[in-house]
Amino acid sequence: MTETETPPTSSPGVRVVTRVMPVRIMIANAKGGCGKTTMATNLASYFTRHGEVTALIDYDPQGSSMDWLQARDENLPVINGVAAFQRLAPTTSTKTWSMRVPVSTSRVVIDTPAGLSGNELSDLIQSSDVIIIPVIPSAIDIRAATGFIRDVLLSRAYRISPKPIAVVANRVRKNTLIYAKLERFLKSLQIPFVAAFRDTQFYVRASEHGLGLVDFEQTDAKDMKEWNALIGWVNQHIKALKNNVN
Ligand SMILES: Nc1ncnc2c1ncn2[C@@H]1O[C@H](COP(=O)(O)OP(=O)(O)OP(=O)(O)O)[C@@H](O)[C@H]1O
Ligand SMILES: [Mg+2]
Repeated sequence: MTETETPPTSSPGVRVVTRVMPVRIMIANAKGGCGKTTMATNLASYFTRHGEVTALIDYDPQGSSMDWLQARDENLPVINGVAAFQRLAPTTSTKTWSMRVPVSTSRVVIDTPAGLSGNELSDLIQSSDVIIIPVIPSAIDIRAATGFIRDVLLSRAYRISPKPIAVVANRVRKNTLIYAKLERFLKSLQIPFVAAFRDTQFYVRASEHGLGLVDFEQTDAKDMKEWNALIGWVNQHIKALKNNVN
């Protein structure tokens, strides 16, 4: 997880820099429109603001994360984008992006398409360290999330190497019956329910301009509390990963 610079040994004057092993955070849910790109772009802007060399990998042929990146002002902290949906050759593997980000990359945020399943889902799980599943309060989305979580847990990659998974609620209006139902559902799962993001036009406007919550001078303290809860959960697992490596 950290860059290791090997001092010159046999060849004087040659400095060997070993590639950093970045932490890879995948945002996924087979259900369309639940907030995968919104979570991915906000996490990427958070990490880069906090000094991490960050890459945003877009596996969705819609290219929404790449559109967001294109709209981003060049004076903002840099995020390196990879349009991973553009396969360069039929044999291009899901890991090819690792050759297309700077060697010093420490955080990789992976945005995924709707309808993700089967081998593609398994490949992306294998290429991730932690998984975040956004769910919006609606009966259809709750049903779809149940199926997707089952697919993740039963996937070959997850069974071989289980990863930390969290669910987050998105587009929440707190005092509604459907949110109460979603909350009950998320709390009933065997995986942690770590944050609930409110439904606000702020995210719609931010997405048009390549911005994340952290790029605004003023942010609602309640929104920041939820983002801090999600980041806290991610950081806790990054720490555990580092401890396992050392
Ligand atoms: N918390 C929120 N409040 C208000 N609008 C939101 C919120 N989260 C996402 N949106 C809006 O909902 C729409 C869908 O969000 P987003 O594109 O992030 O979903 P997605 O899961 O990536 O969709 P797709 O499956 O098509 O890739 C976008 O217009 C986005 O701006
Ligand atoms: Mg998307």
